[in-house]
Amino acid sequence: MIPFSPPRIDDRTIAAVNEALRSGWITTGPRTKEFEKRLAAYCGVPRVIALNSWTNAAELALRWYGIGPGDEVIVPAYTYCATANIVMHVGAKPVMVDVLDDFTIDPEAVRAAMNPRTKCIIPVDIGGLPARVAEVMKVAEESCAWFSPTVNLRVGGSNPQMKLGRALVLSDAAHSFGARIGGMPVGSQADITGFSFHAVKNLTTAEGGALAFNLPEPFHADELYGWFNTMSLHGQSKDALAKTAPGAWRYDVAGAGWKCNMTDIQAAIGLVELERYDADTIPRRKAICQRYDAAFHGDPRFLTPLLKDDRREGSYHLYMLRIADATEEQRDAIIAAIAKREVSVNVHFIPMPLLSFYRNQGYRIQEYPNALKQYSREISLPVYYDLTDEQVDTVITAVKAAVQEVLG
Ligand SMILES: Cc1ncc(COP(=O)(O)O)c(C=O)c1O
Repeated sequence: MIPFSPPRIDDRTIAAVNEALRSGWITTGPRTKEFEKRLAAYCGVPRVIALNSWTNAAELALRWYGIGPGDEVIVPAYTYCATANIVMHVGAKPVMVDVLDDFTIDPEAVRAAMNPRTKCIIPVDIGGLPARVAEVMKVAEESCAWFSPTVNLRVGGSNPQMKLGRALVLSDAAHSFGARIGGMPVGSQADITGFSFHAVKNLTTAEGGALAFNLPEPFHADELYGWFNTMSLHGQSKDALAKTAPGAWRYDVAGAGWKCNMTDIQAAIGLVELERYDADTIPRRKAICQRYDAAFHGDPRFLTPLLKDDRREGSYHLYMLRIADATEEQRDAIIAAIAKREVSVNVHFIPMPLLSFYRNQGYRIQEYPNALKQYSREISLPVYYDLTDEQVDTVITAVKAAVQEVLG
């Protein structure tokens, strides 16, 4: 049986976790701070905060920007539910728009959906391929002309909506840590970029996430970090590490914060993962994707995913193969036929309007024809560090045989 996406856990990972446990420091501490510094250096931004998931990190970003009831946030219809759920958690409305053939949000559809209630846009780097963030940033900048900030908002002594004066671009880079746009690592393009380090991601901390801050002046990365650090720990003015200094016990609570800090056990895994990421993880994932490309590209039965173009290079997180002429039912039958051959595949993602919760909220799949079209014929193939070339060939054989069996 070939699994879909097991994490890479070896003696180094286990030794790093052991060391963290034996150090006596298991909550947020020196390893988390070190991980944050290295993430910031990797992304080319002054500050990164590491938290316990993309979901909680990105939701905190919406809260920081004071997004709430009456506000709208533009998201692609084609994404994991977390992208829209965080918008609902803060009481705002996710406005879904369609995607392009490469699965990323259509900047023109974003432009058409903008209105004075729009407070934020969340492009998603599906499968690791960066969305057209520069175009989305341009659309956000156009909103300067009519943006209507919440006036009575105060966050850490100022009003971020007044300060930015336009819709915030919060990138969902849950899949794309290590991807590049114009040669620069993802993280240094959108206002705030959120990463996921969930167990199936390219770089994992078991569960985890991070935000890279790239807001323009007069925002200060240190002040932003301070607010997120405090509010990820109940609004407490000192975290556990700061309180360990002799005599430094007294603290204040500046606001009703949340609880979504990263632990040093998670950071210990992340530090090992990060150290070998560029030299080892990405090259192996890229080689697997290229082996799939060599087998499927040029065969008219298949559409291979865009892994790279002249501006963007993905993180090789998913290999999102499409069966050119398959209906949804045929695609499902092909997956069953692949499973019979002891290979696990997946579908990324069921567009949100097809899921009962969003359908019951009034979202209609007919309004997102490209999301439906791409989803109906999509099959994600296994991509992970420990997948051998022989196993990749087994997957290829299974997929081709399954397609032959179902489509003839
Ligand atoms: C596109 C996308 N956004 C957000 C998330 C949420 O990430 P996390 O599990 O770290 O909260 C995921 C998780 O799989 C995802 O695929």
